[in-house]
Amino acid sequence: MAVPTVYFLDDDENIVKLVKFGLRSEQLEVKFFNHPNELLEAIKIEYPDVVISDVMMPDIDGIELIEKLRGMSRQMPIILVTAKAAVDTAVRAMKAGAFEYLLKPINFEELKLAIGRAIEVGRLRNEVAEFKSGFKARYSYDNLVGESEKIVAIREFIKRISSVTEAIILLRGESGVGKNLVSRVIHYTGPMADKRYLEINCASLPSNLLEAELFGYEKGAFTDAKTSKKGLLEVASGGTVLLDEITSMDLQLQAKFLSFIENKRIRRVGGLEEMPVDLRVVSATNSELEADVAAGKFRSDLFYRINVVSLVVPPLRERGKDVILIGRKLIEDFNSKFKKQVRGFTAAAERKLLAHDWPGNVRELRNVVERAMIFAGGEYLDADEIAMSDISQPASVRDGLHLPKGLTFDEIEAEYLKKVLEWNNFNLEAAAKQLGVTRKTLWEKRKKYGLLN
Ligand SMILES: Nc1ncnc2c1ncn2[C@@H]1O[C@H](COP(=O)(O)OP(=O)(O)OP(=O)(O)O)[C@@H](O)[C@H]1O
Ligand SMILES: [Mg+2]
Repeated sequence: MAVPTVYFLDDDENIVKLVKFGLRSEQLEVKFFNHPNELLEAIKIEYPDVVISDVMMPDIDGIELIEKLRGMSRQMPIILVTAKAAVDTAVRAMKAGAFEYLLKPINFEELKLAIGRAIEVGRLRNEVAEFKSGFKARYSYDNLVGESEKIVAIREFIKRISSVTEAIILLRGESGVGKNLVSRVIHYTGPMADKRYLEINCASLPSNLLEAELFGYEKGAFTDAKTSKKGLLEVASGGTVLLDEITSMDLQLQAKFLSFIENKRIRRVGGLEEMPVDLRVVSATNSELEADVAAGKFRSDLFYRINVVSLVVPPLRERGKDVILIGRKLIEDFNSKFKKQVRGFTAAAERKLLAHDWPGNVRELRNVVERAMIFAGGEYLDADEIAMSDISQPASVRDGLHLPKGLTFDEIEAEYLKKVLEWNNFNLEAAAKQLGVTRKTLWEKRKKYGLLN
């Protein structure tokens, strides 16, 4: 690691001399400044790891300095030093964002410890910032690959909607079209990008647990509630929450959820107090909501409430050449994952991609490209390496399950699950029905075999 840089600011020459001496044997690069403006000039060129400053100075005081530094893109920890044992200044300094507060005369051991801690905290802050910007890069508009009119329109929609944080957004579309991806892009390109983004799949839990998960609970609310716990809506406050497969909520929870949307208040399970929660709500579904409403499975008032701003993410088959653009992006992703250097598709492979109707949409494409990349021998993926379930094949071939020797029960289950999803055009409701399991069980199996992404 590079030697940390420390900027030390004091208008008293004697103190500067003393500190120079006191820190001489430390593994630090310490630069000294007599005037705040000098320090601010230097910061334009290079960010230090820590700033140490006197509180009382001509022109601007230490607290104003903190405020100026806080406006900068990188947040370095600031240690303030002062001659006066003034508690109110200390409080103001900490409120303004000082990392620590030391009293003169300077005790060098204390100062060295404070610098060490500040460096560590600064490093962590930077890691967090990088982590967040990594997410931002991962979920920028560019990740929504495609040049078709429909995808361009979706990017436009996201640009307009991402700044409107009060809007409730409903994302609709077949399985695998990219609803989760769109939701993440909405969050990470909007003003809440630094706040929490949480996803919950409403099919993943039985109703009472889903309620506890969303709204939280107080100690003793039910047998297992040994302590109180914040719900996701509370945790994501200020940020965004995606309620995936919203039609899996039962009618009672739908009512509670509607009341939350209308009042922006929650009450934990078993709790008495209501508390305000302000967050962006995105919901997603791949089922026919209108039909669910007609069948009495989904409350119409909730439907009207969440359907105000809705976006239909179109199936891949309606996006023309996007299938190739997305395919190439996937090749890049898998190149780095599998350490390969595949350069693209052959012309024949591209024709095959364009001719397929992609019932499983981008997720199916992803699986197809992944499988091809695992076996890929050449520089370009060829048509025969790209194997999707071919609907032009006779039903006897298409509908069969061909199992190589030596599979475990788990592998057989995973293969069969993939087939059943294909047979049902990735309609989860229908697939669950055919398998004779609940949507929750289906969701768990998909998770187990990595078929959710
Ligand atoms: N336009 C796109 N460009 C690149 N990758 C995409 C695009 N759309 C979707 N994907 C990828 O396809 C996969 C499936 O997308 P996602 O999980 O968002 O679908 P979904 O609509 O939420 O599906 P489901 O209804 O089954 O939950 C993900 O790996 C996602 O990153
Ligand atoms: Mg999804």
